[in-house]
Amino acid sequence: MKILFKNIKGLVGIMEDSPSFIAGSEMKNFRLLHDAYLAIENGIIVEFGTMDEWPGISDWSGLEIIDAEGKFLLPTWCDSHTHTVFANSRALEFEDKINGLTYQEIAQRGGGILHSAKAMAAKSEDDLLQDALNRIHRMILNGTGALEIKTGYGLDVENELKMLRVIHRIREQVNIPIKITLLLAHALPEKFKNRMDEYVEYMIHELLPQAHEIGFDFVDLFCERDYFQVTHLKRILGAAQSLNKKGKVHLNQFYSIGGIPAALSMGALSLDHVEVLDDNDLLALQQQPTIVTALPGCSLFTKIPYTPARKLMDHNIPVALATDFNPGSAPNGNMNVINSLACIQMQMNPQEVCAAACYNGAAAMELQHEVGSITIGKRANLLITEPLEHLSELFYYFGESRIESVWINGVQQ
Ligand code: NIG
Ligand code: FE
Repeated sequence: MKILFKNIKGLVGIMEDSPSFIAGSEMKNFRLLHDAYLAIENGIIVEFGTMDEWPGISDWSGLEIIDAEGKFLLPTWCDSHTHTVFANSRALEFEDKINGLTYQEIAQRGGGILHSAKAMAAKSEDDLLQDALNRIHRMILNGTGALEIKTGYGLDVENELKMLRVIHRIREQVNIPIKITLLLAHALPEKFKNRMDEYVEYMIHELLPQAHEIGFDFVDLFCERDYFQVTHLKRILGAAQSLNKKGKVHLNQFYSIGGIPAALSMGALSLDHVEVLDDNDLLALQQQPTIVTALPGCSLFTKIPYTPARKLMDHNIPVALATDFNPGSAPNGNMNVINSLACIQMQMNPQEVCAAACYNGAAAMELQHEVGSITIGKRANLLITEPLEHLSELFYYFGESRIESVWINGVQQ
């Protein structure tokens, strides 16, 4: 089955090859072709060009032509940092938050991640699966066509493995690529109070090998003052390295404690959050450019600074955008909101946003050979906008979606 989209006002995100990321200063050049066509066949991008190069078609059988007059066509969003499997909302804490408590204060009162872990232990795998599938269904309709999901609400071997199994079941049932991150040090459970080193060793020795048997793609930890330390980061990323797994690390959310240089020295794939960035961090990133994944939904919801994406890009450091969808700090899986926040709060221009939310997001999951750009041979995971005056209109109506249709593997959703 071949489908031809014609009269596309702007075909966004054309790439010839698939580098490990688009560097900061190149992101604004994420290529846009005006008045274009795109052909897909059996779920794959096979051809594109400008309308004046419209292909001579000899065989019209089985060919569908879709007129995209006035509309933009983009690769789907690649959401590279999510906690989409969780047991319940933390809406009760929302009121504490409204009354002025910070994320850390709520956690210190026994809320936060520990609260989510209790709920995780109590919920059946089938229910967790169903809830997550419902969330993912909405995310896809909002234009997400590739997704990373973390464990991290288990906090012990049994419940981390349970989460891992649920994510595998999701992967079997959903038709977008899904990468799995083992978040094996997210918060210190009560049982290990004052024994953080011991807890990290327990997770490395007991969880890691069993998780490896079931399968996962990356490792993660929450490296932060009052959470896990740089020594733990090195220990965990080192243990993961011996299994050939890279780190995608939560760091610099509240404080800079040396996580960035350490994660870089351990070959991390992406550094996530980075709302706080000091001169040492910036220097280390300049010496070893690595994707920084900004999570503006978390900044909005927890009222912390936004990742200095403009500064990072101006120093040629690649930036990705992701939702961080989770019940505590970012209860929103809609990439359109994230992209609007990136424009409004982070001084990212629309083409930079597309590069960050599509290509660098894919690259932050090592999926850039499959999705993230308009490239011949990649999956036809595409979104088509409503008729727009300009690409920026896609992000301007914040909180709304101007996406008209989403296509996964060449099939309209
Ligand atoms: O990315 N910072 C750590 N982890 C999550 C929040 C998890 C939670 O509060 O449930 C985050 O913000
Ligand atoms: Fe997160």
